[in-house]
Amino acid sequence: MELETIIKHRRNIKPQFFTPDIIPDQEIKDILESANWAPTHGFTEPWRFVVFSGSSRQDFATFQSDTYRSKVAPESFQKIKYDKLLSTPLLASHIIAVVAKNTEHSKIPFLEEIVAVSCSVQNILLSAAEKNIAVHWTTGGVTYSDEMKIYLGFEKKDTILGFLYLGRSNDKINQKGNRRSGMENKIIWK
Ligand SMILES: Cc1cc2nc3c(=O)[nH]c(=O)nc-3n(C[C@H](O)[C@H](O)[C@H](O)COP(=O)(O)O)c2cc1C
Repeated sequence: MELETIIKHRRNIKPQFFTPDIIPDQEIKDILESANWAPTHGFTEPWRFVVFSGSSRQDFATFQSDTYRSKVAPESFQKIKYDKLLSTPLLASHIIAVVAKNTEHSKIPFLEEIVAVSCSVQNILLSAAEKNIAVHWTTGGVTYSDEMKIYLGFEKKDTILGFLYLGRSNDKINQKGNRRSGMENKIIWK
């Protein structure tokens, strides 16, 4: 497929539309390899990934749902949200946690590290689309909590950019995609 076609046809596909198929680990390694070729100011290469597959998905699911329950005030607790955090990881073949490592570089602001990691995520999304792997990017639940950073093996100064749920999907519903306005509204020519 041509790059432009992949870019336009890549879609965020919810795990509810995944099949039970398990993706070979090698395919996951291949798409992660593409992440390492994102632009990086000062070669800090701040992207880090934690991959959950097989039984570790249950561990992740239990951790995020338990953390949600322990952090939220009892009057704000939503059982439906708790159940979703507990069950959705098991719908995915693999889950990739995306972390921006804060290298505390003297000349490179952390914002630029986050930008670099965002570029690495787009490499992953496009590489996955090319391999017919469905991806759902989520930042819900306790994504940004310090507890999650520590669980993943990082420090409070680092930032989690989200979780990528990967699977196979037969869903074609959103293949066309949707944007509220065209690029003519977002470019200023001088
Ligand atoms: C930083 C970031 C966080 C996101 N978090 C969520 C999320 O928590 N839940 C969700 O359903 N989609 C999330 N998305 C995916 C968007 O919903 C999706 O990209 C958008 O609907 C456009 O659809 P498309 O990617 O198929 O073009 C996130 C996307 C980005 C860039």
